Amino acid sequence: GKGNHRHFMEKEIFEQPAVLGDTLRSFADPATHRITLPELPFDFQAVSRVAAVACGTASYACLVGKYWLESLAGLPVDWDIASEFRYRASPLVPGQVGLFVSQSGETADTLAAMRHLRGEGCPALAVVNVPESTLAREADATLRTLAGPEIGVASTKAFTTQLATLACLAVGAARARGRLDPEREAALTKALDELPARILQVLEKDQEIRAIAAELMAARDVLYVGRGTSYAIALEGALKLKEISYIHAEAYAAGELKHGPIALIDEHVPVIVVAPRDHLFEKTASNLQEVVARGGKVVLLSDAAGVAELGDYAWKTVTLPEVDPFVAPILYAVPVQLLAYHTAVLKGTDVDQPRNLAKSVTVE
Ligand code: F6R
Repeated sequence: GKGNHRHFMEKEIFEQPAVLGDTLRSFADPATHRITLPELPFDFQAVSRVAAVACGTASYACLVGKYWLESLAGLPVDWDIASEFRYRASPLVPGQVGLFVSQSGETADTLAAMRHLRGEGCPALAVVNVPESTLAREADATLRTLAGPEIGVASTKAFTTQLATLACLAVGAARARGRLDPEREAALTKALDELPARILQVLEKDQEIRAIAAELMAARDVLYVGRGTSYAIALEGALKLKEISYIHAEAYAAGELKHGPIALIDEHVPVIVVAPRDHLFEKTASNLQEVVARGGKVVLLSDAAGVAELGDYAWKTVTLPEVDPFVAPILYAVPVQLLAYHTAVLKGTDVDQPRNLAKSVTVE
């Protein structure tokens, strides 16, 4: 049941500290907390390229995974949408592996993409929440997300546990490829260990975020922007908002704004800026100022130092805990979920069962 919660989606958002802890612990050595991957059907040192393929929210987890595998493990990753990948003649290279991410493990396009790649002789690694699913059964190896059953149609805890699993995969791949010095490894391990507690702090902002949602619900269009892994969180935030509140929402890489989308900006279009203080913060900050200069209303998601620097430009701010930029996408997923959830509840839509959508898309 829903326990004390009004909707499954709310329950599942609030379960995230627990299920992230479970998922992360499943990869950690209990004594040393060192992240260890199970035996895989390929050697990361011999992998030349990864095709990361999924649909919807799971594809945004893959996009974060791409940034992590590239920066941490030095592995080239092609990010793809399953419905495009499966019909495209993408040449595969020796040493290529496939990475397929799915909550249900039954998504038709993701399954077909995996079958296509395996048919070409590439090993497939699946990140799946439902262990008895077709994807899990057919993959050469499976990493399980321990989100537990996800009932709400809008994916929340499945997404963040996918991210946690991909973070562990990136750490394991980086170590296998000799690219992880012990100091960096210790910092990443600590950041992951502390993540459930940090997410709990974000959940304490629930009513503050609800107050912003009360203003957002009047908007006809909302833009989400970010750079790096925050671009993927912007995409996820926009998908969450449109699918449950029916407000038109789009996400852009912040650097793309001036190539067209900035023409949309006026005082009626809120812009959600996902801006943890990482190496791209100053770049995002100047995009934020460009939006404000054109009358845009900015909702800034950042940490205390980021809000201190940019808060004066923003219409609304949410101050999030300071974390290692590596885990920031997992943390910043939560406020965009809450923003969408509260906006939809305030608008009175059917949050757990949005119109026209099914939990598992088993037809293409
Ligand atoms: C959005 C959402 C969908 C799914 C997508 C893939 O909230 O839930 O975009 O992420 O349909 O589903 P799975 O992960 O089951 O393959």
